[in-house]
Amino acid sequence: MAKVNIGIIISTTRAARFADKPANWIKDIASQRDDLSVEVLDLRDYPMPFFDEVASNAWVPSQNEVAQLWQKKVAEFDGYIFVTAEYNRGVPAALKNALDYAYPEWNKKPAAFVGYGSVGAARAIEQLRLIAVELQMAPTRTGVHIQGADFMAVWKGGKPITELTYLQQNATDMLDQLVWWANALKAARERPAISAAA
Ligand SMILES: Cc1cc2nc3c(=O)[nH]c(=O)nc-3n(C[C@H](O)[C@H](O)[C@H](O)COP(=O)(O)O)c2cc1C
Repeated sequence: MAKVNIGIIISTTRAARFADKPANWIKDIASQRDDLSVEVLDLRDYPMPFFDEVASNAWVPSQNEVAQLWQKKVAEFDGYIFVTAEYNRGVPAALKNALDYAYPEWNKKPAAFVGYGSVGAARAIEQLRLIAVELQMAPTRTGVHIQGADFMAVWKGGKPITELTYLQQNATDMLDQLVWWANALKAARERPAISAAA
């Protein structure tokens, strides 16, 4: 079976962000598999304004040129891994804005999540699963949560994430689910009778 094309989205943009470490960690794990290919998408490379279009691009093409580039890039993938923090128990604003700036490009594709923070960004990720439903995405059951003392040890103590060995099985389970959904939904999208359904 052909590899599915997975985008790993780095969801925070501040200069001092921690996000690169978990993004590189999951990229390294995913890159060892022969059933998917990965590319890292950094929201820093898509500096879109706060949503400022006449409508979602579900209905009206976006005018903003960076948004157009973002939509074109998002469209390339069969599924996504969102690497995310939680800001004040919610989804980081840069990520919510980037989600809002596309619509058909997300549709009928799976979403998986790697979170980090005091509770592994679990609260933000549950919110992202609800948002994913509106975007007509299929969120995976399993997410990876780098949390509590382990998060502090990596964030402030410089401990490599690879030393949190229990996360490895967790990541494998999540990627297995992501690949299953990506293949299933890719096949469905490519069958005209099904992909025409609302
Ligand atoms: C504005 C802001 C709000 C935060 N709120 C939370 C929170 O609700 N829960 C949490 O676990 N950590 C919270 N934190 C701490 C983050 O987990 C930590 O700073 C993390 O490194 C943020 O991700 P980033 O470095 O990729 O931006 C917050 C951090 C910031 C900057």
